[in-house]
Amino acid sequence: MTRPQHAIIFAAQNASQRMADRHTPFVMNDWYVAAFDEEIKEQLLARTLLGRRLVFYRTTAGQVVALEDRCPHRSMPLSAGTLEQDTIVCGYHGLRFNTEGDCIEVPSQDTCPKNVGIRAYRTVERGAVVWIWMGEAEQADLSKLPPQDWMEEAHWERSQGYLSLQANYVRLHENLLDLTHLSFLHAKSFGTPDYAKAAFESEIGDGQFALLRNVVPTTLPPVWAIPTGLTGPGQAARIVRSAFRSLGLHEVSVTFYDCHLPENERPQYRIRTAHMPTPETATSTHYFIVHGRDFAQDDPATTRFMHDQLFVAFQEDVDGLALQELALASTPPEDLYEFSVAADAPAIAMRRYVLARQQNESQP
Ligand code: FES
Ligand SMILES: [Fe+2]
Repeated sequence: MTRPQHAIIFAAQNASQRMADRHTPFVMNDWYVAAFDEEIKEQLLARTLLGRRLVFYRTTAGQVVALEDRCPHRSMPLSAGTLEQDTIVCGYHGLRFNTEGDCIEVPSQDTCPKNVGIRAYRTVERGAVVWIWMGEAEQADLSKLPPQDWMEEAHWERSQGYLSLQANYVRLHENLLDLTHLSFLHAKSFGTPDYAKAAFESEIGDGQFALLRNVVPTTLPPVWAIPTGLTGPGQAARIVRSAFRSLGLHEVSVTFYDCHLPENERPQYRIRTAHMPTPETATSTHYFIVHGRDFAQDDPATTRFMHDQLFVAFQEDVDGLALQELALASTPPEDLYEFSVAADAPAIAMRRYVLARQQNESQP
């Protein structure tokens, strides 16, 4: 189809003004996942988050330390230094920094200048993950952490994994609020053809966005059919809620049951997936995932089976979003035209919210 050039440009300008995209600066004032807790040991770990180079380690008392990864003397990354008794010694000229980022020793002189150091970031461990606040320190409020009880409760059987996404994090949030793609991008893994056409509802609130889809009856793909025993064609109900909880957490909740059994006789099988994107750069994202189920507990073979199958599907998202990023990167902004459909409503609302959050932050 040929479109008048002026209409294309107008649409592109409108879209970029209204929604967060790969050009939108990061929202700093929020909690993001920095790492799985098991990654942070008594050794230096370099990681870039929200475009900033950080160095992490754990003290001998078990405290997580997160510091700017740049020596304030001559900008050597501190992660290239050594960890000695809970302090970092820079690998260039040996300046020493404590857990607060204060310089406490200069080997070439007897005295250490006061008030010289690097920024230390607040972190908090919850369940299997370490959250970090990289914005205004005085706004780092634990009440702003999104609810995540099931990630800590014993009756949820969990597994976790990490994927490196070569795309902007906004498009990952968009992907997670879009259930239509299961029938296509995941046609060979956990999508089914009826998914895209199932009726859906949108929930659009203040910083909370969700898409709900009841796929009933449906035939479950092996990742769910085998562990639940709902293997028959058209036997299952698949009730899905996909919800943006915060910039650092998207939660997918699914309930399966046998739709041929009376309501009071059918067991319910529930799964939860925490998708936790943390921007690395404008075009790359750390993608932390925790998956849980409330059935077939203490069954490591089922955990392994589900984990492996799920990560095949999540890799499809990562591969697809990387292709999308390449297409976006090679399209001049004046030529970029994207239109939206009804199922995009929650994602559009989310992207507007992210842009508004960023614009609020940049106000003096
Ligand atoms: S650059 Fe770190 S001590 Fe000089
Ligand atoms: Fe997906």
